[in-house]
Amino acid sequence: MSERPYVTLSCAMSIDGYLDSAEPQRLAMSNAEDLDRVDEVRARSDAIMVGASTVRRDDPRLLVRDTVRRARRLSYGRPESPTKVTVTASGELSPDAAFFTTGEAPRLVYTPAAVAPALRARLGGLATVVGLGECVTMAALLDDLGARGVRRLMVEGGGRVLTQFLEADLVDELQLVVAPFFVGEAGAPRVVGPGCFPWTAARRARLAETRRIGDVVLLRYSLSARCDALDGAAPESAADATAAEPEPSAVAAVRSAAAPAPRTTDAAGRPDTGT
Ligand SMILES: NC(=O)c1ccc[n+]([C@@H]2O[C@H](COP(=O)([O-])OP(=O)(O)OC[C@H]3O[C@@H](n4cnc5c(N)ncnc54)[C@H](OP(=O)(O)O)[C@@H]3O)[C@@H](O)[C@H]2O)c1
Repeated sequence: MSERPYVTLSCAMSIDGYLDSAEPQRLAMSNAEDLDRVDEVRARSDAIMVGASTVRRDDPRLLVRDTVRRARRLSYGRPESPTKVTVTASGELSPDAAFFTTGEAPRLVYTPAAVAPALRARLGGLATVVGLGECVTMAALLDDLGARGVRRLMVEGGGRVLTQFLEADLVDELQLVVAPFFVGEAGAPRVVGPGCFPWTAARRARLAETRRIGDVVLLRYSLSARCDALDGAAPESAADATAAEPEPSAVAAVRSAAAPAPRTTDAAGRPDTGT
């Protein structure tokens, strides 16, 4: 069986832990500098994933924006932007969504096997629809992506998708950006829902890096031995976040040496903020 992809969760939240407001229009969480960082992370990924609600609500393009990064990917023989991935149980995805109509990269839609035929008919040749059993689990989805050659997956949200990856302990790295404001609306989506998460007060995640980016802050957590290895951190030091925090330049060097071919970073605004 192929190795599961290295999974990076990337999202931006308000101080009070919301991904968005409950208003119809999308709420910009991040800033331009951070969105550029997120673009770099995208450019280093083989695939980018969002949930179907995010596709419907935000209509993200999920493309690498920077021309130099796109050219770098092409020089490595890759598409300009990573494969786009989404998941739906309802099958309610419009073929007119930017997810399907922009860019040249392959698109994958995971759905329960029973829903797949109708969704295939609806989307025509716009995407590969993969039916995965009675209901889709993130573990099965990752196995399938691994078999398709995806080595690095970036998951940009929303909350229901993030919750499932985290609960199932399938995440290597969490890149969480905190925006300097509150949302405070009960109906707004939270960064994660209630769940049984592997990291508790008794089993703390390792804080790998903090970085101020203009008016937001990036918190990078290592959630796996693979991430620890990339950071050059000893697993036994994971409980001591301060001692384990690596030198940022050393982290960059190790990550750059260890990660697959075309590299760039990106991590947090919304899936695509208007691009
Ligand atoms: N701030 C950020 O960084 C950021 C990033 C991304 C998104 N967002 C925001 O997050 C909000 C959306 O988050 P959300 O939690 O409501 O939704 P979501 O996670 O984007 O998508 C949830 C949907 O994905 C499908 N899905 C999830 N798990 C599935 C599974 N195991 N099997 C089959 N289908 C599955 C279902 O689609 P169906 O309903 O079609 O069955 C489900 O309703 C939006 O407001 C968006 O703007 C913010």
